Amino acid sequence: MTQFGHFDDAAREYVITRPDTPWPWINYLGTRDFFSLISNTAGGYCFCRDAKFRRILRYRYNGVPMDAGGRYFYIKDGDTVWNPGWKPCKTPLDTYECRHGMGYTRIVGEKAGLRAEVLFFVPPDARCEIHRVKLTNTGKTPKRFQLWSFVEWCLWNASTDMENFQRNLSTGEVEIEPDALYHKTEYRERRDHYAFYGVNRPYDGFDTDRETFMGMYNGFEAPQQVLSGTSGNTVAHGWSPIASHRFDLELAPGASDELIFVLGYVKNPQEAKFTAPGVINKAQARKMLQAYGTPAGADIAFATLKSYWDDILSRFSVASAVPELDRTVNIWNQYQCMITFFFSRSASYFESGIGRGMGFRDSNQDLAGIVHLIPARARQRILDIAATQFPDGGCYHQYQPLTKRGNNDIGGGFNDDPLWLIFGTVAYIKETGDFGILHEKVPFDNKPGTEVSLLEHLKISFAHVTDNLGPHGLPLIGRADWNDCLNLNCFSDNPDESFQTTENKTEGSKAESLMIAGLFVAEGKDFAELLAHPAVAADPKYVAKVRSAVAAMEKAVKAHGWDGEWFLRAYGYYGDKIGSNENEEGKIFIESQGWCTMARIGADEGLCDKALDAAVKHLECEHGLVLNAPAYTRYIKDYGEISSYPQGYKENAGIFCHNNPWVIIGEAMAGRADDVWRHYCKITPAFTKDQSLRKVEPYVFCQMVAGRDAARPGEGKNSWLTGTAAWTWKCVSEFILGIKPQYDGLLIEPCIPVAYGTYKVHRRFRDAEYDLTIRCTGKPGASHFIPYIPGHHTLDIEL
Ligand code: BGC
Ligand code: NOJ
Repeated sequence: MTQFGHFDDAAREYVITRPDTPWPWINYLGTRDFFSLISNTAGGYCFCRDAKFRRILRYRYNGVPMDAGGRYFYIKDGDTVWNPGWKPCKTPLDTYECRHGMGYTRIVGEKAGLRAEVLFFVPPDARCEIHRVKLTNTGKTPKRFQLWSFVEWCLWNASTDMENFQRNLSTGEVEIEPDALYHKTEYRERRDHYAFYGVNRPYDGFDTDRETFMGMYNGFEAPQQVLSGTSGNTVAHGWSPIASHRFDLELAPGASDELIFVLGYVKNPQEAKFTAPGVINKAQARKMLQAYGTPAGADIAFATLKSYWDDILSRFSVASAVPELDRTVNIWNQYQCMITFFFSRSASYFESGIGRGMGFRDSNQDLAGIVHLIPARARQRILDIAATQFPDGGCYHQYQPLTKRGNNDIGGGFNDDPLWLIFGTVAYIKETGDFGILHEKVPFDNKPGTEVSLLEHLKISFAHVTDNLGPHGLPLIGRADWNDCLNLNCFSDNPDESFQTTENKTEGSKAESLMIAGLFVAEGKDFAELLAHPAVAADPKYVAKVRSAVAAMEKAVKAHGWDGEWFLRAYGYYGDKIGSNENEEGKIFIESQGWCTMARIGADEGLCDKALDAAVKHLECEHGLVLNAPAYTRYIKDYGEISSYPQGYKENAGIFCHNNPWVIIGEAMAGRADDVWRHYCKITPAFTKDQSLRKVEPYVFCQMVAGRDAARPGEGKNSWLTGTAAWTWKCVSEFILGIKPQYDGLLIEPCIPVAYGTYKVHRRFRDAEYDLTIRCTGKPGASHFIPYIPGHHTLDIEL
């Protein structure tokens, strides 16, 4: 089995040892406003705040070869041209290594006695990428060589950049200065922002016109100027502006040289846009160039970045007998939760950054992965999300990060959405004890003057379900529930319609969701507990109403949602069963087994155990639990997008990793430790062996792994931005290791096979710090409550 890399846990890095990974293996840079995607060959792009509206570098998603565009350094040593990251020239290197770390990527290439090391990072709170290039002559003779930098500007709006060429090819404008090449396209009119690519030493040549640099018919792998050892010193007028600097260098044997590039973004106040007619105000860019353009400045910025992540990752750590578990918990899962929180589902190598914005349900679930890490930002996110709700409790399915406004193109109508606000808020308050957030005033649909408290928003979220019940007393599904490919009111036979937004029938629909029913019971119980807490002390009559709505739903599920051996998935438009043994295909679905067992519906009557057994029997395969079985083998108009996917992919019987933890948590609540562990190991990348088969990054979870019906079961897709990150985190931290934040302390309630059941956990919780040694002896249901008391506590807990 070919290995493409390995973990370096001490450095919190993944080390890629050959560049031709089965798919680009990427990392993310940035922590607040300025974000970058960077592959192991330095491909990718960056943007400020919004991947669609403020795209800085151009990137070609459908490019051939894959991963076209990035920050490329070209080295010409004699007649050989090579890149430290191998691509795009693909000249074989003597040495190659890429280390993806926490918020930085370091790529090292060596060829014929010349070593180039490039460190890429975004300093915390800065709006720039730093490219720190160190060149070393490792040979015995002096070296004369040339170095070119290269980036290609996107004309800001990543969407129109790909389509409106009649305009785009005429708008490009640049300014050339000794310290930087400035991209000021559209700055003359409404924009108040520009980008620049600067370097901390005078360059020997430059280009800003792509055709001159590349040659009209050459690709990234053979730029004309590099091949001829020159620069065109061009000033771009329209067409496709780029930025490239050239340096003619010389190094004695053993000597090193360093250049620091800064690729930045600046927004100016409207009244201070220009310093002279047509000349952009460069003060902020110069400040950045000065701050980072010295080795000392870059060192400080990098150290700040390091300590940012050290602090983040010092809040929860485990020391167990299983290295794969430790590296997942201590490093990569938490890192992925942060990245997913920052980006929602907007920009990855599977999400183009122009479509999805921030999902209402997605962002709420993401909170569960980061409330313990960046609680202040979680708080803000909750308020932003709640502000996109409508007065009837429904909400925009997505909102745009730049404007924080709901996205009209997709609208609302996904009936699970409102409940996730309760989920996110409960997770936040349990972690922080900040009940005060409930009194924050939040508008509807961002309209000033409509503000009510967050608590009111939660109430109307809850009521949105009880106001929309179907014939069986189960929640109407609306456009779709969590599985937004189960489109029961869509009935589309027009390929030009979006499954996500089309409802050809809604009036009179009987389509009900057992997934929402389970979610409602689980979140309803949490909501009642929150309301009854002395810090909230809600009206007892209202609390009783919540409890009785929950009880009624449990009753409805038991009466109409149980199929004999498992929970039904839904009722269709006509009231037909979905996810039933009566169906030919799609007899059983994972979501309702997960949610109804997490809600413990019918646990006393043995329904949860039966449903979990059925999940194991019908859904489990070598790489995890598939979403449904049997897979749909043809398009069924009544079900929609789910049946549009070939068998084994995505929502049609793929291993949709996001929902595996639902069943695993259900298993943990039922005390089934061996099942818990087996399912967890199957979806956790640190345990996967065959890197070629898995294809995507071995250090992060994917949304989907091809299921047993697929051509290549086990092949991963849609890595990085997925609710899997937060859910696996919740699953491992709260239900496997058993550290459950409660309003007034921590409940220790693990579910792990005894063989791995002795471990240490370091946990910061509000103003307390716990060093716990936990020894599980296998007693069913054993738990231990630690009341919250500020200070440092060392505890040895035998369960
Ligand atoms: C995908 C879903 C996704 C939806 C919304 C569908 O094609 O299969 O996973 O949530 O699109 O973008
Ligand atoms: C991905 C989406 O981001 C999420 O909102 C949805 O629930 C799942 N796909 C399942 O369809």
